[in-house]
Amino acid sequence: TRIEKAGYKHFMAKEIAEQPVVIADALKHYTSADGALRLPEALDFKGIDRVTLVACGTASYACHVAKYWFEQIAGLPADIDIASEFRYRDPVLSPASMAIFVSQSGETADTLAALRHVRDKVAKVVSVINVPTSSIARESDLALPILAGVEVGVASTKAFTCQLTVLALMALKAAQDHGRIDPHALAAKLQSLRSVPGLMNAALALSDPIARVAEELAKAQDILFLGRGPMFPLALEGALKLKEISYIHAEGYASGELKHGPIALIDAAVPVIVLAPKDALFDKTVSNMQEVMARNGKVLLLSDAEGVAETGKGTWKTLTLPGVEPLWAPILYAVPAQLLAYHTAVAKGTDVDQPRNLAKSVTVE
Ligand code: G6P
Repeated sequence: TRIEKAGYKHFMAKEIAEQPVVIADALKHYTSADGALRLPEALDFKGIDRVTLVACGTASYACHVAKYWFEQIAGLPADIDIASEFRYRDPVLSPASMAIFVSQSGETADTLAALRHVRDKVAKVVSVINVPTSSIARESDLALPILAGVEVGVASTKAFTCQLTVLALMALKAAQDHGRIDPHALAAKLQSLRSVPGLMNAALALSDPIARVAEELAKAQDILFLGRGPMFPLALEGALKLKEISYIHAEGYASGELKHGPIALIDAAVPVIVLAPKDALFDKTVSNMQEVMARNGKVLLLSDAEGVAETGKGTWKTLTLPGVEPLWAPILYAVPAQLLAYHTAVAKGTDVDQPRNLAKSVTVE
């Protein structure tokens, strides 16, 4: 079937807008109506002593978020690595570990090589893929489709949030299998996860204000993204998205690491995008943000109503998102991060769907 832009200017815009629907589909597929997990029986974490998550690019940032989830929700040690490094250093693997490979295409050569490298060294090889017939899916013990539908834009959007959704469910399953979560807490976590697609619609409604901010961002030479906890990997992803399609140099940093180097870059010309839902670490993030503002940094704060009300003063701009269970905030905040990259690229007039030098699927190592 031919995939059309369906009235959108770019595939990327269409794919960003599709997220509430595809995520709801994935949640429906992997949970039952009465609010229980419905993952394949073969996804068994009993006896598994650690997970090793490996991927490239955007998928590797999904793994990075999932590390926080596996550790925090399931108490399971989680290692993450990018495939091209993992394969050629000598990773010390536990024979009782589960190796998880995340890939939209399922054909990324580095990820496939990493999978082949560990196949006989771990208890189970699981892949999280968008293309069920792909090499990575075929060569794993178990493949979990993310059900994002065809993704055409080279810069990954809906595949990222669907990867996160499936990884969140996997972390909950691990918690269940290890007796780390009682049925009541599990139901509550699933319910908050199920509310994410609806919240995403509210995030999508920020498209126009984001387009106006993007007019300014398009003039910048360097942009920093800051986040803490599971929002740190989202800062990395936000920076990657912006680099990929707008060609503006961007870096993602853990908010607390700012003072250990990147703060030297701060002046009035460097926008700093702070991804800060009101969570347990919010106050620390705010003080990092104030360090930026004290050096004339232009802060764009993304937070929920409570966070914006508390700290909105003195920022350059604020964007208010709906409140969300802090664990799942990276899934929701992916939407404004993608829209910021998208509108900045549009303002610069770059080729959004086919950025220079990049390929959708990289089949060379
Ligand atoms: C390429 C794409 C990226 C993608 C990465 C991994 O570099 O340009 O958008 O994140 O490959 O792709 P995969 O298909 O394995 O998720």
